[in-house]
Amino acid sequence: MAYYIQNEDLEIYDLIQKELQRQNTHLEMIASENYTFPSVMEAMGSVLTNKYAEGYPNKRYYSGCEYVDGIESIAIERAKKLFGCKFANVQPHSGSQANGAVYGALLKPYDKILGMDLSHGGHLTHGAKVSITGKTYQSFFYGVELDGRIDYDKVADYAKVIKPNILVCGFSAYTRELDFAKFKEIAESVGAVLMADIAHVAGLVVANEYPNPFPYCDVVTTTTHKTLRGPRGGVILTNNEEIAQKIDKMVFPGMQGGPLMHVIAAKAVGFRENLKPEWKTYAKQVKSNIKKLAEVLVKQEFDLVSGGTDNHLILMSFLKNDFSGKEADIALANAGITVNKNTVPGDIRSPFVTSGIRIGSPALTARGMKEKEFEWIGERIAEILSDIKNESLQSDIKKQVFALGNNFIIYDKSIF
Ligand SMILES: Cc1ncc(COP(=O)(O)O)c(C=O)c1O
Repeated sequence: MAYYIQNEDLEIYDLIQKELQRQNTHLEMIASENYTFPSVMEAMGSVLTNKYAEGYPNKRYYSGCEYVDGIESIAIERAKKLFGCKFANVQPHSGSQANGAVYGALLKPYDKILGMDLSHGGHLTHGAKVSITGKTYQSFFYGVELDGRIDYDKVADYAKVIKPNILVCGFSAYTRELDFAKFKEIAESVGAVLMADIAHVAGLVVANEYPNPFPYCDVVTTTTHKTLRGPRGGVILTNNEEIAQKIDKMVFPGMQGGPLMHVIAAKAVGFRENLKPEWKTYAKQVKSNIKKLAEVLVKQEFDLVSGGTDNHLILMSFLKNDFSGKEADIALANAGITVNKNTVPGDIRSPFVTSGIRIGSPALTARGMKEKEFEWIGERIAEILSDIKNESLQSDIKKQVFALGNNFIIYDKSIF
């Protein structure tokens, strides 16, 4: 499949091969990552990458769009069916672009966003000061309590003080279910639009394994990678026609130029996978795998934020340990286990060091691993962290990790 690159650009070919090898052998446990379907990669590597198609199906600025019109229309229909809503814009190049387009469509500069604090599990695009969203709008934040859960009464009280134009619910690192009905009550009490960013849990939502933000939220954004296992990209969903029209105008021509038609085709191919009955089995397995990991770590007396999880991720807290999230991340990476350092409630360390790590199950579940493997992985994680400076232990475990990885190869040599 890599015929041309292999023959023409060995430097890049070699690095892609090494990355393929890394993905096949290491244990990928970054909660936002996944292994997409070969069919999705085929669509992304297709001739569709050549086509300019500014506009929307049947309303393009370029000729020759008859086939890409068909593709985008199918992607829209599948997205609507999947999430159970009336309108979908499948053009955002990423989750950040999707969020930016919603704000651009519904807010004026200096309007107020109330979102989850980045250091409490929110995303940069929920108004963080370093993000364009925090520079363009006035941003205010709610967070989690020391028990790792949102206190909805506190959010309601704060919303009454701030009177946000938009209330954002959604997260990159929260371990429990969100109560969308409560968020709706809060938004209504202050006349705010309610936006849910379900980038992390969308794959569970569409399998009914996590609460659905519809009918409570006015607008919903998601990425199509992460738990959905599609291509990298974003989608915006709503049931409100007026909002849908504003969003279409803001995505194009407001924020983006030509849509990435190869990625839109790949989104459609991914949605087809998400609509299959087997998807539910995958989503259920994602949850039971992470629950098994949580159970093993708690048994080994490690602290988990909120004590466990209702979704696809856990947050280990090292506030009571004498090492940081960064040290834990490095020690696990040395053993071939890829996670990411993460702040935890009450953290006293900087975001570059942190007192926690975030671990997710979607990618290894896609490789076919089940509770038995997650139990084994949990035991190895506990062993490494209980003797964090022991580098020879880390390299011993790395060999075992690679042996396990080799039994769960997801991409064979024909993949590129
Ligand atoms: C909740 C949430 N929203 C949005 C994004 C942004 O997605 P992207 O990386 O595609 O811009 C992320 C990415 O991690 C996320 O976790």
